[in-house]
Amino acid sequence: MYKEHYPLLNHNSFGIESYADYFFEFCEVSELDEFLLEQTLNTNNIFILGKGCNVLFTKDFEGLIIHPNNNGIDITYEDDKSIEIKVQSGEDWDEFVEFTVSNSWYGLENLSLIPGSVGAAPVQNIGAYGVEVRDYIVSVECVEIGTGKHFVLSNRECCFDYRNSVFKNELKNKCVIVAVSFKLSKIPVININYTELKNKLQKDKNIDVRKIRNAICEIRNSKLPDPEKIGNVGSFFKNPIISDNDYQVLLKNFPDIVGYKIDNKNVKLAAGWLIDKCGWKAYSENGVGVHENQALVLINKGTKSGNNVLNLAQKIRTGVLNKFGVYMEFEVNIL
Ligand code: EPU
Repeated sequence: MYKEHYPLLNHNSFGIESYADYFFEFCEVSELDEFLLEQTLNTNNIFILGKGCNVLFTKDFEGLIIHPNNNGIDITYEDDKSIEIKVQSGEDWDEFVEFTVSNSWYGLENLSLIPGSVGAAPVQNIGAYGVEVRDYIVSVECVEIGTGKHFVLSNRECCFDYRNSVFKNELKNKCVIVAVSFKLSKIPVININYTELKNKLQKDKNIDVRKIRNAICEIRNSKLPDPEKIGNVGSFFKNPIISDNDYQVLLKNFPDIVGYKIDNKNVKLAAGWLIDKCGWKAYSENGVGVHENQALVLINKGTKSGNNVLNLAQKIRTGVLNKFGVYMEFEVNIL
C-alpha cells in the first residue's frame, strides 16, 4: 500500500498527530522488493516505522515512511536442546514471546509485554529484567533501500550495545529489517536476578517459563502504563552511563543514588531515580505528564502535539543536569 499525505496518529503509541509525505506498507517482502525497484521518489529522508512505540513526531514527516507489516514464523533448525526460528519483522513482539512461552522455549520470557514489532527489537536491542534481546538473536535479514539487495547480518555484525546497534548508526534508515532469527533453549535456563522478580519467584521450587512470563507481566502492569490505554513510549531517556570516579563523587552528595556497576570503570545510573529526586514524578503540563509509578516514562494526558512532549522532556533533562551534573540522552527517536 502506498499513500501520500498519510496520517500517523494511529501509527505512534504516544498518540501524536502528524502526517507523512509518503507512506509505504508491505505485507510480503516481495512487495518491498518491487517498490524499491520501481520507486522514483526524490527524497533521501526515509524512516522505517514499526509499531511506533519508540518514536515521537514533533512535526510532519517530510519524506518516506516504510512500515513493515509482514507476518510469519518458521522453524529453521531444531535439536533436543535448542530451536532456531526465523520471524518476519512485522510480527507483534509480545505475541511472538507468548508463542515461544506456549511452546516452553526459554529465552525471551523476561522480555514479555514490551510493546512493538519483532523488527524493531534488534534496532535498540530491547532489554528488561536482566535480559537483552542480543543474547538470543542469531542473525538479522535486511534489504538495502538504495539497491534492493538482501543481506544477512550475524549477531556480531549487529554491534549490539545498551539500547544501541548498527541499525541506529551506520545502517540508520539505509536498510529495512525483514526478518530476525532467534536461538532459544528447550532446556530450562532461568534468569530471575532482577530483585523484584527474585522476590516473587524464589520460593517457588518449580519455576518454569510460563511462571516467569506471568511474573514479568505483573511487575510491568504494576508500574508501566499500557500504551493501549494511556499514550506513552516507554522509557523516554536512557539510563546514563558515567565513570566510577564521577559516581563516587555523586554518592558523597546523594548517598541513596541508584547505580549499577557495568564494568570496572563505569556505572549505569537509574534515570528514573534522578528524575524522581528532582520532584518531577506525577507532574504534568500542556497535556503531558510524568508517570506516577515510573518517572522515566512520559504519558499523554490529552495532547496531540509532539512539541509539548519534547518541551517537558527538555525541562526534565535540564533539571537533572542542574541538580546532578548528569546528561540524559533520549531513548526515544525524536523526528
Ligand atoms: N526509580 C525511582 N523512581 C522512579 C523510577 C525508578 O526511584 O520513578 C528507581 C527504582 O526504585 C529502581 C531504579 O530506579 O531502584 C530502576 O528502576 P526500574 O527497575 O524500574 O528500571 P529502569 O532502570 O528505570 C529499565 C529499562 C526499562 C525496563 C526496566 C526493567 C531503560 C531506559 N529502561 O528501567 O525499559 O523495563 O529497566 O528492566 O533502560 C523501556 O526501555 O522502554 C523500558 C521500559
